[in-house]
Amino acid sequence: MIQDDHRVVIDLGTTKVCTILGKKRPDGSIEIAGIGVAPCSGLKRGLVADPEATTSAVMASVGAASKAAGMPIRQAYLGLTGSHVKSRNVWSKVDGFSGVSVVTQEDVRRALAVASEDAAEEGRDLLHVIPRSYALDGIYGVRNPLGMHAAEMYVQAHAILGDQHPIKTLQAAVQAAGIGISGLIVEPVGAAEAVLTDAEREEGVIMVDVGGGTTDIAVFYEGSIIHTAVLPIGGYQFTNDIAISFNATYEESERVKLRFASAVPDARTASEEFGIESHSMDEPLIITRREIGQLMSERATELMRLMMKKLDEPHLKGLRISQMVLTGGGVKLDGFQAIARYIFQGHVRTASPRGAVGLLSEHQDPQFSASVGMLLWSMRNLPRESHASRKVSGRADGRPNGRGGLRASFKSLLPRSKAQTGSKTAEQKSGAPVGV
Ligand SMILES: Nc1ncnc2c1ncn2[C@@H]1O[C@H](COP(=O)(O)OP(=O)(O)OP(=O)(O)O)[C@@H](O)[C@H]1O
Ligand SMILES: [Mg+2]
Repeated sequence: MIQDDHRVVIDLGTTKVCTILGKKRPDGSIEIAGIGVAPCSGLKRGLVADPEATTSAVMASVGAASKAAGMPIRQAYLGLTGSHVKSRNVWSKVDGFSGVSVVTQEDVRRALAVASEDAAEEGRDLLHVIPRSYALDGIYGVRNPLGMHAAEMYVQAHAILGDQHPIKTLQAAVQAAGIGISGLIVEPVGAAEAVLTDAEREEGVIMVDVGGGTTDIAVFYEGSIIHTAVLPIGGYQFTNDIAISFNATYEESERVKLRFASAVPDARTASEEFGIESHSMDEPLIITRREIGQLMSERATELMRLMMKKLDEPHLKGLRISQMVLTGGGVKLDGFQAIARYIFQGHVRTASPRGAVGLLSEHQDPQFSASVGMLLWSMRNLPRESHASRKVSGRADGRPNGRGGLRASFKSLLPRSKAQTGSKTAEQKSGAPVGV
């Protein structure tokens, strides 16, 4: 039986499914108890295209994590990506203040509820509502209003929404593997948790996770998340360019990419020749690193340009963000960081996941940032509760469909006993935002 201080997350990627069982230690640190990774061919661009293949990969990955941890797994939080994931920021007035009074945890909870109502859209699931700041009696930029005096309060929140159909398909593929769903975590929110420093979030940073099928983006400024977006492009397109150009299979093209490709080929080795199996030739086709490099450079440049275009949003204009953190398997392409720096014209670093105890060296790799980060994020921001007791039905977060149920159902975000007594969790006492 999974204990209350344990969490399971499943990162369903376009190339692999990664399940992590983690544990919160008494000192507050988060320890990895078991990881299971299985190749997956069931997703395309972050969406389930082959439910059966997805279900088998989930079973293999969960089975391996369960074996490694020595514990059965029946419930998990799921990572969600895909270009249907969109974000918006809302300012909402928090009702219920009569005269000047001290802001309580209950007011903060009402703030989250009203922001959720304002962010909700017909036909779309509300995945996260993350408070960014508060305005108390016209004073803006208050990060933790608890204990302050105010007669009027507004909350500014970052909301992330997704389309219902792909979410249901993803949930069904996981449930078919016999796994109950504790909730959903949007992948870039998770990845950011594992790779960004507090200073980067404060100063402003763009986190880019280039996976196999998607590029997930999260922008932070003044300590909080302000933009989330997903591009339906990843390492797949780089490999596919090789396959199309040289009439080769995808597998052969992937081999060539991993072994010989660079987005900025070194002048000394650019003329080096190697063979690629091509459908149109009996013998391997001889090509140079320069030819592959040309394709990789063009694709990396296009990806970065599209990424920058995705950031061409009114609420990001005028913000001086000069740092970018790259992660995900796609950025392991030699020279990718150099192209990113050239297009972004700012400071760019490539990051592997950090912040979890017991992470093996083989998982200290950009490909595991989202998986590890989702575990960290869920441990730090979601209520401690038994996996065995939590069930999800229609909505991604287990709450009833429609706007009407949002306020009442916020109690379900608290641990059951705490919600009933009204006392505070450790996270709430410290004023950390509670993500939905
Ligand atoms: N050394 C490398 N050079 C170039 N590309 C690489 C390298 N290593 C891995 N990749 C690419 O990284 C991609 C897989 O990355 P990752 O594991 O982050 O994706 P994923 O999580 O399965 O997919 P997604 O997040 O898009 O759903 C593949 O396209 C693979 O070709
Ligand atoms: Mg991924």
